[in-house]
Amino acid sequence: MADLSKTSAWAALTAHGKSLSDTSIRDLFADDDDRLSWGLVDAAGLTLDISRHQMTRDTLALLGALATEQDISGWRDRMVAGEAVNGTEHRAALHMALRGGLPKPPVLDGVNIAEVVEQTRTRFLDFAEAVRAGKQTSSTDKSFRTVIHIGIGGSDFGPRLAVDALRPYASASVDVRFVANIDAAELHRALEGADAETTLFIIASKTFTTQETVENAKSAADWLSANLPKGADVSAHFVGVTANTNAAQTFGITEERIFPMWDWVGGRFSVWSAVGLSLALAIGADNFKAFLAGAAEMDNHFLTAPLEANLPVLLGLVGVWNRNVLGCASHAVLPYDHALSLLPGYLQQLEMESNGKSVTREGTPVDGATAPAVWGAAGTTGQHAFYQWLHQGTDRASADIVLPLTSHQGPQRHHDILVAHAIAQAEALAFGRDEAATRAAMAKEGLSATNQDRLLPHRVFAGNRPVSLLTMDRLTPGTLGALLAAYEHKVFTQGILWDINPFDQWGVELGKTVAGRVLSALAGEGDLDGIDPATRHLIKAALAARSKTKSET
Ligand code: F6P
Repeated sequence: MADLSKTSAWAALTAHGKSLSDTSIRDLFADDDDRLSWGLVDAAGLTLDISRHQMTRDTLALLGALATEQDISGWRDRMVAGEAVNGTEHRAALHMALRGGLPKPPVLDGVNIAEVVEQTRTRFLDFAEAVRAGKQTSSTDKSFRTVIHIGIGGSDFGPRLAVDALRPYASASVDVRFVANIDAAELHRALEGADAETTLFIIASKTFTTQETVENAKSAADWLSANLPKGADVSAHFVGVTANTNAAQTFGITEERIFPMWDWVGGRFSVWSAVGLSLALAIGADNFKAFLAGAAEMDNHFLTAPLEANLPVLLGLVGVWNRNVLGCASHAVLPYDHALSLLPGYLQQLEMESNGKSVTREGTPVDGATAPAVWGAAGTTGQHAFYQWLHQGTDRASADIVLPLTSHQGPQRHHDILVAHAIAQAEALAFGRDEAATRAAMAKEGLSATNQDRLLPHRVFAGNRPVSLLTMDRLTPGTLGALLAAYEHKVFTQGILWDINPFDQWGVELGKTVAGRVLSALAGEGDLDGIDPATRHLIKAALAARSKTKSET
């Protein structure tokens, strides 16, 4: 395995890329009307269509050769065998075991992974059902009505997205809310209208040291103490999900209310674990199991399908083609389903925290680009914001359109319009509108020849924006599970192709360390002299604003 640019497949791919550089996606469709025969792949209730990319069947073969040369299958085998594929932290990456996706979960350091997963899942799903049924009650013996999940990053994005996406499956008896930001505004919002006697807090933190989560948890405890009847047991309102049981207990969560996480599951791959307790509370154990089953079905496909017909591998390969050969520095995630509004943010963490790296596994600088910037918003609202840039801006971005073909909510006419826009955007991004078609459209509008000449450059669409379509009949617990698992495997595939470790995140450390120093300075501790003038200026400004506000109140 080598840095991407040093592989022999890379040389062939770049030469091939050059040969295609003047051939648009429109031309490619004209040359080959059978593109769907290799551009469509089905797995676990999802269909991926990669026909609208600036590539051919030969491109796929060359990308397949790259995948083979980078030993995707070998790395996949090592990952499922529980080897320390996260080299810098010497950890395994066994998130697939959480959803029963591994045919033979390994025994790691004497721990039978299948057993601990099963035991923990049974415990937290039983707990969720007991809360939903009103059997697990509060300190004053009331049923819990509000659940506030406190966590951040990987301990937040997954359950927050899934709870939002699966609202049609949620019980009306439990209202699940989320708090991630250290900005107290988010906690205040979550507490609005909540009754302490019927509120349950889930503190989800693998490390139980994350500053935002710990502070929010402390403020939640203060709120409970202030609002529960005197003498009530505050701990009856807390549940912990963590790999650091001691810290959770020191905080005040009782042992039987702590559900374990393990170092062989990365935070951004953890929604399938007890981190998903808030989801289980919202949708119930059976739906949660269906969510896991959808992911496991995708795992089975990922582990067994040939690389050239492997949905997540293709997502990864196409992404590398767009990023490294065509030079797309950003990738738009465009879900055409309001329920998937949080998908772009979720994928931002999954893709950018995993593959936003500039050194190889061995620590040498990568020779070429790694993860693109991932961003996006739900269609059609995004169409009225940034699609102008997508269609006619000077940068070329790749895009994924995610489209459930039927909706949980009527009127049907709304969904028809939504689907029409999704399909139309895929066509417009890929094929654009050439001069002749643009002139014809303007003539139809009754524009004079002079006006047509004047407006032509503004109204032509170059097209050639590479776009994948990911469709499913309906967004269900199963298809959502399959979708998220597919993206996890895409990220893994790309990490291997780029020869980087997708499972660590050292890049988030520096900011945390500096924030600690700044926080001390804000508290009047420590010496400002050793701090650079720009930082010192801001610290002084913050202190001045704080004392000004104090003196005004
Ligand atoms: O953002 C950095 C990070 O370490 C993520 O990888 C992780 O998901 C998040 O912080 C939260 O960490 P924890 O679950 O330990 O609170």
